Amino acid sequence: MGEYFGDLLSRALSRRAVLKTALFGAAGLTLASLPKVGVAATSLGFSTIYPNADDKITLPAGFEHGVVIRWGDALDGGENLDWNRIHQTVRAADVQRQRYCFGYNCDFVGYQRTPNGKHLLVVNHEYTNPELMFERVGDRPSQWQAALQREAHGLSIVEISKNANGGWRYVNASPYNYRITGSTPCEISGPAKGHPLLKTAADPTGRRVNGTLNNCAAGKTPWGTVLTCEENFHSYFGGSDRNLTELVKTLHRRYGLPSPRADRYGFYFYEDRFNLEKEPNEAFRFGWVVEVDPLNPTRLPIKRTALGRFRHEAATTVIAPDGRVVVYMGDDERFEYAYKFITKGKYRANNRAANLNLLDQGDLYVARFNDDLTGEWRLIARVSDNKIMPNPSLPDIFQKEPALCFINTRGAADALGATKMDRPEDFEWNPVTKSVWLALTYNEKRKDSDRANPRPENAMGHVIEIVEQGNNPAALQFRWALPLLCGDPTAPETSRQLVLYGRPTNTKVPAISAPDNFTFDRAGNVWIATDGNGASSRLGKNDGVYVLSPGRRELKMFLSAVPGCEVCGPEFSSDYKTFFCAIQHPGEGAKSTADLPTRWPYGDQVVVPRPSVIAVWRQDGREVSA
Ligand code: FEO
Ligand code: CA
Ligand code: CA
Ligand code: CA
Repeated sequence: MGEYFGDLLSRALSRRAVLKTALFGAAGLTLASLPKVGVAATSLGFSTIYPNADDKITLPAGFEHGVVIRWGDALDGGENLDWNRIHQTVRAADVQRQRYCFGYNCDFVGYQRTPNGKHLLVVNHEYTNPELMFERVGDRPSQWQAALQREAHGLSIVEISKNANGGWRYVNASPYNYRITGSTPCEISGPAKGHPLLKTAADPTGRRVNGTLNNCAAGKTPWGTVLTCEENFHSYFGGSDRNLTELVKTLHRRYGLPSPRADRYGFYFYEDRFNLEKEPNEAFRFGWVVEVDPLNPTRLPIKRTALGRFRHEAATTVIAPDGRVVVYMGDDERFEYAYKFITKGKYRANNRAANLNLLDQGDLYVARFNDDLTGEWRLIARVSDNKIMPNPSLPDIFQKEPALCFINTRGAADALGATKMDRPEDFEWNPVTKSVWLALTYNEKRKDSDRANPRPENAMGHVIEIVEQGNNPAALQFRWALPLLCGDPTAPETSRQLVLYGRPTNTKVPAISAPDNFTFDRAGNVWIATDGNGASSRLGKNDGVYVLSPGRRELKMFLSAVPGCEVCGPEFSSDYKTFFCAIQHPGEGAKSTADLPTRWPYGDQVVVPRPSVIAVWRQDGREVSA
């Protein structure tokens, strides 16, 4: 891969005029100056499929899949949620059942083994689709429709077990199973804990909040916890901001509040905390990375404010050579930023308790991508010994009120000249290539391009690879390149064509758009789940899973899902024989359940499709990517 940065440069010089985009690097950079990274050259052991619009899961020959768990499946041995009746009427008792049943719109999927060898999945439930869950919503959801949606958010921690045929099912009533929802008490820790902006009528301490919401993707820590990420948290907050103080109004507007989407969930009609007119500060208690201990349901989820507040897509970790832990994070909105956090303390492999509060102190950085293919991490603030030290170049307001570096992380990043990106989604360390992979899903609103976001009106999205100096995740300088500009090899416009390692591809390579989440196989191949192929401005086909081989510079499509869904949470079992993913919001885009393009995963005389986690395996029992 070392040569690939060099290849980019030579091609940049010869092809720039042809591509008419400033994709690639700068004069003056030579091969000798390029970073050395590992190479993953293993061939991908399956034949590609191609995007389609079928109402079924499509896989390469030799693979099978099965549903592991669906929205509404009981976790506690009680009754399943009655999803067909709920479609007509919701009762208070249904809200209670949802607290013990698998939630809606599964996103992140984290596999782990328990100390005694059981298999667990930790699954996020990002949001709800009232128009698909309920036949009639009217102008506003009913009290019980709103409450049921709130309880269908959060996370599920669930034991799974393997069948004789290679598939997996969840274990109902396992003692490991539990739910976290939009009303579960959570702690607030780190530098913003107890700040006046985090205090509310219900919580004058600013240290306790009910619920975690819009948990999109996540990451697993080396000490066995999960960092679940509050993404579009603004969506739940309604009411007028007319009477808010100027500071609060300004901060809320920077984060998109109040939100026109609040009506669809309806929380604020029934709970004052979601109404900005009645509770200006509740929204400051969302937008955080939340640490969850899957093995300890009695430990409250903890909102880690040292990791900053934004629309967190994911938070993925890697241990630096000196033992500090680095967390990579994207803020998923058009023109927002990529961040990383470096802990002050060091990871201790044999002392789990010592690691459990590592994320409260350290340095928060934001990324600046330079047009010469270099980049740097700019410090926002350091937290050490309960003191916040803002970057001295930040404006006065951050010096006077240092906690704003965390509460208004976006504002601090604006002031530091960070690079505005095309919707940063997953941002993840590849342990084989020892580089960091960043998905930029798309940004059709971009007018001016830069080299890291090279396409104006970027409809298709792209992927950046970052090589930290010395391949050290704690470094403050990096180089970067563009292994993948998504698109369709047959598109007439260059701005929509697929460009792989600097070259337009032939038509045998499958079209791809809207890269969202990654995982890596044993060989370091990059497995990419997409969220947006369906739009007519992109492929007009179902979302799916693709595999990019950095060693062979090859792209294949592995899975095509059902209409209306995105695919999330790509994850392997520890033996790499199973690939898990979430089929989120099947049927989305239908105005009502009368015109559904799918009722996947079918069965049970269903009238509604149900977001579900699936497992995929090889019929011959070998590793998935073998
Ligand atoms: Fe929830 Fe950024 O995807
Ligand atoms: Ca996502
Ligand atoms: Ca991942
Ligand atoms: Ca997305």
